Amino acid sequence: MKGFPKGFLWGGATAANQCEGAYLEGGKGVSVSDVMTGGSHKEPRRASLSMDEAYYYPSRTAVDHYHRFREDIALFAEMGFRAYRFSISWARIFPNADDKEPNEEGLAFYENLLRELKKYGIEPLVTISHNEMPLAIVQNYRGWPNKKVIDLYVRFCRTIFERYKDYVTYWLPFNEVNDLMLPLSDLLQGGIYSEKEGGDRSPEGLNRRMNALNNVMIASARAVKEGRKINPAFRFGTMICHITMYPRTCSPDDILLVQQDDLVRNCMCSDVMLRGEYPYYAWRFFERNGVSLALSEEEKEILKEGVCDFYSFSYYQSICESTQVFDEKTSGNIMGGVKNPYLELTQWDWPIDPVGLRYTLNKVYDRYHVPVIITENGLGASDVLEDGRVHDPYRIAYLRRHIEEMKKAVDDGVELFGYTAWGCIDLVSVSTGEMRKRYGFIYVDRDDEGNGSYARYKKDSFYWYQKVIASNGEELGEEPG
Ligand code: BG6
Repeated sequence: MKGFPKGFLWGGATAANQCEGAYLEGGKGVSVSDVMTGGSHKEPRRASLSMDEAYYYPSRTAVDHYHRFREDIALFAEMGFRAYRFSISWARIFPNADDKEPNEEGLAFYENLLRELKKYGIEPLVTISHNEMPLAIVQNYRGWPNKKVIDLYVRFCRTIFERYKDYVTYWLPFNEVNDLMLPLSDLLQGGIYSEKEGGDRSPEGLNRRMNALNNVMIASARAVKEGRKINPAFRFGTMICHITMYPRTCSPDDILLVQQDDLVRNCMCSDVMLRGEYPYYAWRFFERNGVSLALSEEEKEILKEGVCDFYSFSYYQSICESTQVFDEKTSGNIMGGVKNPYLELTQWDWPIDPVGLRYTLNKVYDRYHVPVIITENGLGASDVLEDGRVHDPYRIAYLRRHIEEMKKAVDDGVELFGYTAWGCIDLVSVSTGEMRKRYGFIYVDRDDEGNGSYARYKKDSFYWYQKVIASNGEELGEEPG
């Protein structure tokens, strides 16, 4: 079997709002994530724009990566990372979004981080916006439906492109851009505040959200164009939350349902960002749902000119869908589905489907024929720290099985150039706000009430991943018993 290519980008991924903390230090402004309360699997997080101190806001302190990034990067280097995906907090650079000058302390923070990566020869992959925007965008501009926000974003991009042009090649303009198809992402990705729990599900809400998403994609295309002027060597990628979907039965109605949902939810954004225009099914979807898109001829041109270079995506699980009634449901990243009887579930009820990753890699490569990188994948599980050790065979088993399938996809012919495991150091869960739901190779002593020393501990998976990287994916070890 063909192995992983030489120079394969093995590494890990984080996001500023889930790991940095220090939410008001270094001149940073309040960001949308800072107003999200803690929650759990059973109790949803809430947005508290009044910042009522009666609640706990986990992103404000997170795992204190802001003060400990040198220690953390040294640990990543010890694991042998060749790549590290992190995001830039927009509110550290432009605290109020429309400030006259960028915040030098914020710019210096990421420059120091990039220098530290360079010291170890770790390739940075920078997410420009990951559930992140200054709260001022929500309060003063009412979020991404407002076209003025496109200019603010492009200015933010130009500032960081200029400053970091000698350090960074790979940029991801927006994390999981297609999450904005769903009401749940109204605030964190669309900057749209709604009193309604879980976002605005009304037809007007959908119209607003689709216009926000349209502006996000125009902003991405403009950023790509600007970036290429600043450094023609820059490479830009989509970042799609790929919810792989299967029909629960082989009824033609189920097949059609999945085909239509998959196109709209998984393919529409990457079609725009890689092919440069809205596909036919998107117009049909807008028409049928009363969406009227504000997209000028000039903006259509921008979408064509600012297409990305590579396809990146997150993959955690698959779901089933059906036109028939099935009572058993499962949860998942941004959306759940009908239970698949062939798959086991994580502690948070996300189906575990390694073969689905091979299927997905082949699907997206066949569709776009551009290089592919998996920018998120991993297992959220609660770990036990005992005598400074964490035994996490369940995490090793999950990752091992996914990497095996990646290898098969490479053998199938997919041009896969990297893998950054999600939450390589424990961080705040985005869906539940918990610390208890851990993804890391590195354990952080911090709990759901904000207690803990922030001390870092290497889990068993740390040593396992070190071997995987050193052998370029050849030594995956035995399936743990
Ligand atoms: C992705 C996000 O949706 O899934 C990450 O890009 C997130 O920010 C990850 O953390 C895992 O989800 P969760 O809810 O377990 O944190």
